[in-house]
Amino acid sequence: MKIDVLLGLQWGDEGKGKIVDVLTPNYDIIARFQGGPNAGHTIEFEGKKFVLHTIPSGIFIQKSINVIGNGVIIDPFILRKEIGKLSEAGIDVSANLLVSRKAHIILPSHRLLDAVYEQEKGKDKIGSTLKGIGPTYTDKVSRNGLRVGDIEAPDFDKRYQKARARHMKIIERFNTDIDEFVFDNHKFVEYEKLWFDALKTLNGLKKINSEYYLNNALKEGKKILAEGAQGTLLDIDFGSYPFVTSSNTTTAGVCNGLGIAPSNVGKVFGIVKAYCTRVGSGPFPTELFDEDGQQLRDVGREYGSTTGRPRRCGWLDLPALKYAIMLNGVTELMMMKADVLDMFEEIKVAVKYEINGIETEELPFDGTGGNIEINPIYKTFSGWQQKLDKIDSFDELPTNLSGYIKFIEKATGVPVKIVSVGPDRSETIIK
Ligand code: GDP
Ligand code: IMO
Ligand code: MG
Repeated sequence: MKIDVLLGLQWGDEGKGKIVDVLTPNYDIIARFQGGPNAGHTIEFEGKKFVLHTIPSGIFIQKSINVIGNGVIIDPFILRKEIGKLSEAGIDVSANLLVSRKAHIILPSHRLLDAVYEQEKGKDKIGSTLKGIGPTYTDKVSRNGLRVGDIEAPDFDKRYQKARARHMKIIERFNTDIDEFVFDNHKFVEYEKLWFDALKTLNGLKKINSEYYLNNALKEGKKILAEGAQGTLLDIDFGSYPFVTSSNTTTAGVCNGLGIAPSNVGKVFGIVKAYCTRVGSGPFPTELFDEDGQQLRDVGREYGSTTGRPRRCGWLDLPALKYAIMLNGVTELMMMKADVLDMFEEIKVAVKYEINGIETEELPFDGTGGNIEINPIYKTFSGWQQKLDKIDSFDELPTNLSGYIKFIEKATGVPVKIVSVGPDRSETIIK
């Protein structure tokens, strides 16, 4: 067997959580491969709504095993809260949630560092979710991190204090009052105590060597879906650097985030909104500042699942989508939030960019960094101007929506296999 991959092709929040949940009945194991609690994956069914940050989105289907892979970074405090919310809803994760011993741990001082660095950047700030992502991955790469498998080591406390002291030394140089920063309504010292308590919950979960677990499962013929977080344009290497996250959000991230050989990657499902959104700073060529942008935000309820911030909205960006498809080897597209476009008279898609008088389909090096002007060249489509809620097959889609989908399929060379027309699990049209 090969492992299938599901990931975002834009700037995150494409609707990955919803589709993982929809596809989980077809899989035995769902495995998150990168990112941390900067992610917010929303799942809605039977009138209930959940937002997951660390736990894979397969957790609602009882028979599925959910693995937090080595490439993920975990904040025990946030994870405990997530487990608590699931437990209140009657979902017990003790049997089907497994955690890689090699996953790195987000320390309270990582969150503090994140906050201090962002404050220091002033107007150049990245718009980080302030969950300690950058500092934790930095410690991983600089070989200073602490991992889930270390919690039981006799010298864990000593190593924790050493890391904390190193972080505090850096923070002291910034001349800030650490009491200024609050973490989930707690000042740092109080938060640290709660964090330590939550570490016990993390330590009490089933810990595995996930690379062996997953490869053995593949050999046994088990079906595995890898769940990505964030989106391709937030990838540390290929995103709009430095306005990116600190992990590889692309298919390549599955190989080092789960220990899967490239030859064992199967289908790659690319999740794409029918338009674009971005939360946080950084370039966004098709961003709208007009009524259309506001309509997308209002109808699409485009406010961050993790931070509640309003998302920036704009038209679909084909050059960026093609770039994401190229990097990920996408085999199937899933188009999300088509319903948000229902009432638009006209819908636009950027088909090319004009940069310094030259037309191109390539994302420029610096276009991603921000100093040059990218002018999108649009193709305009007539809207379908009807509600999609009564539709449950591709054949019944309004002609203008079918045309929109066919155009995207032709331009990208990748078939659209799912059209999502609402947040609920049931509002999903599968080809
Ligand atoms: P993720 O991070 O990729 O899992 O996406 P988020 O959960 O952060 O954001 C997607 C938002 O859109 C959530 O509030 C979903 O409930 C919602 N959503 C998902 N699919 C659809 C859809 O087809 N239509 C509408 N209107 N909302 C959707
Ligand atoms: P999901 O998995 C949307 C953005 C932040 C910021 C940048 C860096 O829900 O799609 P970080 O906290 O990683 O240091 O932030 O990346 N960002 C996301 N935007 N969805 C996400 O995750 C995101 N995770 C991080 O807004 O611009
Ligand atoms: Mg999200």
